[in-house]
Parts: sequence; C-alpha cells; structure tokens
Amino acid sequence: MAIRNIREIGDDILFKVSKEVTMITPRTKILIKDMLDTMYEIDGVGLSACQVGVLKRIFVVDAGNEEPEPYVLINPRIIESNGEQTGNEGCLSVPGKHGTVTRPNYVKVLAYDEKLKPYELEATELLARAICHELDHLDGRLYIERVEGELRDNTEASEDDEE
Ligand code: NI
Repeated sequence: MAIRNIREIGDDILFKVSKEVTMITPRTKILIKDMLDTMYEIDGVGLSACQVGVLKRIFVVDAGNEEPEPYVLINPRIIESNGEQTGNEGCLSVPGKHGTVTRPNYVKVLAYDEKLKPYELEATELLARAICHELDHLDGRLYIERVEGELRDNTEASEDDEE
C-alpha cells in the first residue's frame, strides 16, 4: 500500500491537460493501485492522476454504492448527460473549502478499464457529480471556477465529500 502526495492549489500541474493513455505498463498498474489506496486513506470520493502529479487521463471514483465500485476510468468521455443537480462540492486539492456547483444529474460515460477494454458506465447523483468533477481535473479545471456564490470554509461540523 502506497499513499501518494496530493498536489494542492498553487501547483501548476492542476491546470494542465492530461494525456490519453495508449498502453498499460507496470507503472500504470502501480499508479492506479496507489490512487485507490490514496483515495481511501483520505476518504475521497474520487481522485485523478494529475492530483498525484501524473498527467494521464485516469481517475478512480467510489461514491459509496455497492460493487462494482470503485471504478477505474481511463480516457473517459461523456456520451450522454441529462438533468441537473445543485449541491456541495469539495476537492482534495483545495483543502478546507467547499462550494455550490451545478452538474448533470445523469451521465453515461465511455471509458477504458485497467486492461484498456472499453466499457460504458451510467451514473446518477453523487457518482455522476464525482465523474464530472474528475473529468474536469483531466482537462486542467477545478470546481472552484464553477462555484455559484462564495467558496466557503469547511467547519468542523461540515463533512463534505471531497474529490
Ligand atoms: Ni478534485
């Protein structure tokens, strides 16, 4: 088990566009394993490779639903989206903050698994939100540019899901 350092706001890498994955190497497998370990260690809902300093189009998500979560999404793209949800969002790379963001309530995503086999994933609610949040990371975008109103400080009472 290896926990990787989370890059935080102020680090340029968070604003860079990640590159498509064309082959799975032993290093890619270790990266994915470490990303899962890191996400669970810090109680995140999702984590993108750029957040641990690797500019590859990979993220992991676990919104707390049953199997087959967690999902590993490689080179993901949204092929369908529908509806709207407005709610709180936070990010492991923007510690201590949260804000209100509107996202689709449903997304259908085409992604590749750890063997680069394509699969489709349908997601609603928190999982859909997490996927949209992580997709933004792959394009060098943070949720704070989508926040409606003020970015707020977390208090001890608030336990926001961080992605
Ligand atoms: Ni994030």
